Amino acid sequence: MEKELVIVIDFGGQYNQLVARRVRECNVYCEIYSYKTDLAKIMERKPRGIILTGGPSSCYEEGAATCSPELFGLGVPVLGLCYGAQLMTHVLGGKVARADVREYGKTEVNIDTESRLFQNVKPHAICWMSHFDYIAKTAEGFRVTASTADCPVAAAECEERKLYAIQFHPEVMHTEDGSKMLFNFVRNICGCSGDWRMDSFVEESIRAIREKVGQGKVLCALSGGVDSSVAAVLLSKAVGGQLTCVFVDHGLLRKDEGDQVEAVFGPKGNYELNFVRINAQERFYGKLAGVTEPEEKRKIIGEEFIRVFEEEAKKIGAVDFLVQGTIYPDVVESGLGGESAVIKSHHNVGGLPDYVDFREIIEPLRNLFKDEVRKVGLELGIPEHLVFRQPFPGPGLGVRILGEVTAKKVKIVQDADAIFREEIARAGLDRELNQYFAALTNMRSVGVMGDERTYDYAIALRAVNTVDFMTAEAAEIPWEVLKRVMSRVINEVKGVNRLLYDISSKPPGTIEFE
Ligand code: XMP
Repeated sequence: MEKELVIVIDFGGQYNQLVARRVRECNVYCEIYSYKTDLAKIMERKPRGIILTGGPSSCYEEGAATCSPELFGLGVPVLGLCYGAQLMTHVLGGKVARADVREYGKTEVNIDTESRLFQNVKPHAICWMSHFDYIAKTAEGFRVTASTADCPVAAAECEERKLYAIQFHPEVMHTEDGSKMLFNFVRNICGCSGDWRMDSFVEESIRAIREKVGQGKVLCALSGGVDSSVAAVLLSKAVGGQLTCVFVDHGLLRKDEGDQVEAVFGPKGNYELNFVRINAQERFYGKLAGVTEPEEKRKIIGEEFIRVFEEEAKKIGAVDFLVQGTIYPDVVESGLGGESAVIKSHHNVGGLPDYVDFREIIEPLRNLFKDEVRKVGLELGIPEHLVFRQPFPGPGLGVRILGEVTAKKVKIVQDADAIFREEIARAGLDRELNQYFAALTNMRSVGVMGDERTYDYAIALRAVNTVDFMTAEAAEIPWEVLKRVMSRVINEVKGVNRLLYDISSKPPGTIEFE
């Protein structure tokens, strides 16, 4: 049976991946395409519905991002969001104009709940608005289904042609009942039954991998991070003994992490991975000695990682397949999928292939969002502490130690970080914060301990909340928790006499501390 698919057409707005994630939360598979994609190519995919996203342009200006008018006559339901709603109106002959003031933030919207799109939605819902342009006149055949004090057309529709326009953002958490609106669209209006489920994803992937790999040999670089762990276990379930997983411990992991990864994936764990651990700590410290410039440190760590992996791969000999833990945001953000996020050159795409002797790459998670990867991880029985692990950069503590990296500094930051994580978990904040860690500043200063003068390092704590990791806010951690961390770090970690909390947002800071 053909898989149900909804296509999200990306006009470059900031919430576009979020739209796709919300659709998938309704158990409907969806993919993101740039608005520049040929309509014929989109229709080849036989979508059950199409969603047009927000975007930064003004649809009436020359050169603005646009779409073919044909899109609205194919009989496929179309939902336009924000810019998408304006574009639909404009292309179909309505009027979009510049408002005197921007409507921004949480706004009360009066909703006609007779609309199929707004079934079971509150008639006066708080919705997230973010627009300058507004729909001054709907296109012919449309009726208004929502409005606000400042916005006469907050939603409009042409039921017979299955065309729906919403000025606000149902995908954003601040919109009350926003998920219901998207559910109504994809499940009721597009008629999708909801066949996108992680248990069937696992089954189907295992079958597809077996078919592809046959009797071939497979090599996987396992970092212990969520993506590579889930990819490795999926491969192991599919082809067991034909797989070898190489885990390079570069000595820049968090406290005891190497042993924890080995406990789960090594010979004493539950999976057949042919797990090879390489303890290359001293090699990395040797290469990093005397190096203080952040980019140079990154380069050295990256290159050394490749060298170590290459040596190991040579021992194994030619392989047929190399596994990569690429996930859908990596694909979209490297400009291959949608429109929005070419902003960030990506860490996880590219890298390994050129130096290993292999025939083909396998990317079993290429179509999944992070939360879906986690669900697959749980389906596969991977322990929760690995599945819900926060992001950890490839160069590890190398990007959390300012100045030269030494074994001694690594130990200091590992111990401080372990305490911070313990206290965050104890306070029940671990699932709430998106990323948090300790970093070692290169600053030493005078302090007193007992009757003695000290001249020791300052630890910096970093904790952020973020949706996409491209922008972030420092989290407001309760003072009590910070004080407890401070007192434990100062008492338990030798070489530290001060603790600082980094309140910078990104931008201008970054999330990491390097
Ligand atoms: P920054 O510091 O750029 O980090 O604000 C954004 C997110 O990316 C992670 N990060 C990395 N992840 N390899 C990775 O796999 C890297 O080299 C790397 N550098 C930063 C960082 O932890 C944060 O989640």
